[in-house]
Amino acid sequence: MKNKLQIEKINIDKLIKKYQTPLYVYSYNKLKNNYKKLTNILKKNIYYSVKANSNQAIISLFSKLGSGIDVVSGEELQRALKAKVNPNKIIFEGVGKSKDDLRLAIKKDIRQINIESVDEIKIINQLAKSLKRKINIGIRINPNIDGKTNKKISTGLDHNKFGINLKDLKKTIDKIKSSSNINFVGISCHIGSQIFSLSVYKRLFLKMIELEKFFTKNGLVVKHLDLGGGMGYDYAKKMKFDLYKFSRLINKYFSNVDYEISFEPGRFLTANSGLLITKILMIKSSRKINFIVVDAGMNTLIRPALYNEMHNIFSPKKNKGKKKYSIVGPICETSDTFAKEIVLPKQSIDDILIIEDVGAYGSSMSSNYNSKVLPAEILIKDNKDYLIRKRQDINELIKRDKIPKL
Ligand SMILES: Cc1ncc(COP(=O)(O)O)c(C=O)c1O
Repeated sequence: MKNKLQIEKINIDKLIKKYQTPLYVYSYNKLKNNYKKLTNILKKNIYYSVKANSNQAIISLFSKLGSGIDVVSGEELQRALKAKVNPNKIIFEGVGKSKDDLRLAIKKDIRQINIESVDEIKIINQLAKSLKRKINIGIRINPNIDGKTNKKISTGLDHNKFGINLKDLKKTIDKIKSSSNINFVGISCHIGSQIFSLSVYKRLFLKMIELEKFFTKNGLVVKHLDLGGGMGYDYAKKMKFDLYKFSRLINKYFSNVDYEISFEPGRFLTANSGLLITKILMIKSSRKINFIVVDAGMNTLIRPALYNEMHNIFSPKKNKGKKKYSIVGPICETSDTFAKEIVLPKQSIDDILIIEDVGAYGSSMSSNYNSKVLPAEILIKDNKDYLIRKRQDINELIKRDKIPKL
């Protein structure tokens, strides 16, 4: 049966024929509207967190809309530079930056490197000296505040590896003061992802204000306060992160400050922009469960397996018969499960299912597990589809292995 479903005005069957399945499909309008809405309401500088979706077309899209870019690895930095992001709009953080990563950031004179360990100051200062440069640095602080979110994406507590521990602040300040090739610009934090509680943000804001005063008192003037990302997106669509209330909270604490305030969201900007189109490979049942095996797996979208976070799945079919199914991938792991016992129109082999809200931490976390190739990614704008990442060819993987003569 032909699928009537369209994405904008493009028939889904056409897309599948052209790009195969699984297939990531992003909406230009949604990405743009998310950015516009966020900046119009918050009226603060935004640095898009590339880790959520690192496709260069998406980095470029946000950059052209005026966003700054936040990267957490040398590789993301290279992607941002390749996407022609102005280095002056790039912030680089991460708990383990290599010397090569840092050298590149210094040479390109990016806006700011956020350091996360005291020893990093010494390393950056030495590298900058040898390159005869001076580089801006910010201090990512671990404020020891619970984001009240999934443990796997919680980053702001004392026992997490991220940021400079509060006990090391004095040492950090002394080290910065004695380093001639770095220029201190400010402090930053990021306490986790999927934060919905405004009282968590309130606690964070108060702590960061206290820390700003501490730095200033100790002779380092904060010109930039980076308040991280983490704004929640409810995949079950039962609640919404209230941007207006969030904005009021920001204004309450930061309306009369003379330093730059910024945020670095990823999920909030991209989650709802993506669909994952997948084809049914097999249908089978146990005594209790009807399984649908699709061609996307935990290698394509790992969030359900890793975080137990379920995405809405729908079928373009309109037939009346309904049935309960568990939707699983082809990967040899029981955790390769997308949904448990959901009701769908009766399905057959080769039918299509669509997994919603995969624009963040979908493709960017995908892997070649079970030697599966990475799917194509396309962007839809003005009813036209643009290939933004080619489907991987199995030969690319096969060629990388070398079998030595042993
Ligand atoms: C340092 C940093 N900034 C920003 C983000 C973006 O977080 P989110 O996608 O939840 O907004 C992350 C992701 O966890 C991060 O590690």
